[in-house]
Amino acid sequence: MNNEKPLLSVLRGKTTANPPLWLMRQAGRYLPEYRELRAKSASFLDFCYSPAAAAEATLQPIRRFGFDAAILFSDILVIPDALGQKVSFESGAGPRLEPIEAPENLSRLRDVPDYSRLAPVFETVDRVKSALPTQTAFIGFCGAPWTVASYMIAGQGTSDQAPARLFAYRHPEAFDILIEKLTEASIGYLLRQIDAGVEVVQIFDSWAGVLPPREFENWVFSPLRKIVSRIKTERPNAAVIAFARGAGTHLCRLVAELGADAYGLDTAADPVWAAQETAGRAALQGNLDPLALLAGGAALDQEVEAILDALKGHPHIFNLGHGILPQTPIAHVERLVDLIRKSGA
Ligand code: CP3
Repeated sequence: MNNEKPLLSVLRGKTTANPPLWLMRQAGRYLPEYRELRAKSASFLDFCYSPAAAAEATLQPIRRFGFDAAILFSDILVIPDALGQKVSFESGAGPRLEPIEAPENLSRLRDVPDYSRLAPVFETVDRVKSALPTQTAFIGFCGAPWTVASYMIAGQGTSDQAPARLFAYRHPEAFDILIEKLTEASIGYLLRQIDAGVEVVQIFDSWAGVLPPREFENWVFSPLRKIVSRIKTERPNAAVIAFARGAGTHLCRLVAELGADAYGLDTAADPVWAAQETAGRAALQGNLDPLALLAGGAALDQEVEAILDALKGHPHIFNLGHGILPQTPIAHVERLVDLIRKSGA
């Protein structure tokens, strides 16, 4: 009998009757139990650095929906925090960092993350590992260097990452040093998560889609290639999922050259095209529109069916095309779980 966890089998290239399912940002504000737990921590970073609370937040969606994977509860911005940049989260306004406005400001950063600051994250991994159901895979993550740099430079989320793009055009050497630092930090951070007990790591390049081809090459492709190759060399048993949101036709080259086990498709990606272009080379993850899940009803059913049809016969992990929205009704997530569980029958 094959006891392999369904999500791990798919990452090894198997196809399954119904795809394994998890949702990006599955631990979060759409869950009443999350809101209750969150209210007990003074700040979001305190919450991320409290192993008992972070482990509980990781497990909440598993208990409620029985997803095939748990994703570590943390945030991509713990890396700038561990590099010595001031990071805070204002309720309703998103992250705030002390912006990097000029190359001189880079000297405020440490060369390597203060891993002792991240120790609670590894302790969270350890706690979750022993509490997970046997069939549930455990995913760790980091933000990709470009995406993390875009927050570090702007000091907040922006719609077009203009501050980081401008900084990279004006100060390519300084920007390269920052990307290199984040690449090494990401590798060290992911290796430590794997050693603490995650089986899979996902790299979130949420803002990959705004860059022209040359910049995509330098700031997305090249650091991702370094991260994936180091993880694969140093921890060959760990699986890697690369999510380069907005990669568009770059997906073909990512799949051909990155060496990840799976690639996340964003909401706008055509799964029929992606399956054709990548056949046999990697698993695909995605890509339900988070707004279709929020809307529910016929739209949800139709979108789910279209994705299942498009990726039938291909190693597929069902997920959203981006994170679940806080307003999403629980009943719609339950409907999604039902549709996926029954899909292979
Ligand atoms: O459930 C999970 O997916 C695990 C936890 C997780 C969080 N953030 C928790 C979180 C993960 C994987 C992330 C990734 C993350 N964080 C990304 C990449 C994925 C993406 O959505 O593009 C990015 C860009 C961030 C940075 C970030 N963190 C922003 C922009 C915000 C504010 C926007 C928002 O959704 O509120 C956060 C805060 C954050 N991270 C929350 C959660 C649950 C909400 C804060 C709260 O609950 O008080």
